[in-house]
Amino acid sequence: MRTMYETIYEMAKPYLNTRYNDVHVELSYEFTKRLLKHYPEADEDIVLPAILLHDVGWKMVPEDEQAGAFGPEVKKNDVQRFHEIEGAKMAGQILNELNYPGSKIHEIMDIIDGHDTRLEALSLNDKIVKDADKLWRFTTAGVNLDSFRFGIERISYINYLENRIKEWFFTLAAQDMARETLAITRSQLS
Ligand SMILES: [Fe+2]
Ligand SMILES: [Fe+2]
Repeated sequence: MRTMYETIYEMAKPYLNTRYNDVHVELSYEFTKRLLKHYPEADEDIVLPAILLHDVGWKMVPEDEQAGAFGPEVKKNDVQRFHEIEGAKMAGQILNELNYPGSKIHEIMDIIDGHDTRLEALSLNDKIVKDADKLWRFTTAGVNLDSFRFGIERISYINYLENRIKEWFFTLAAQDMARETLAITRSQLS
């Protein structure tokens, strides 16, 4: 029997095959589960669906319009915002179809609606989603992919990431994971 989260993941997948979001979400999902072990007071019924569905809205953005709407220098703020608004709507539809509890759907949609552009976190659940969303960038796969698509030399990109840790992460566990993951990435790429 599939768990509810596996079902949600299966329903998200057709929308994740763009911008390498399939790679991103798989890695961020693993980080979410690791963070939940550190913060048992968070609600996995909110956090896990939110991370699985947070970027489905990119599927509504043509691939040639995606560049510049994410990364170290966002120039297309409207496109970045669009993927949040669309993603929140699509997540709501998917979860409604699965008869997910309405109050939980609302919280998940609120988290998705500001996952990139809202710089403050609404709750511990939101902090975990925001942190897991960024942690994958520190993996070898994340560094390889992002340094290539942002046109930044790998070593410069690794140093850039290292300098963002305090600014990006809300939870201490995520800061530790970012440092630890980046150390592994550095050793693998040197
Ligand atoms: Fe996003
Ligand atoms: Fe994301």
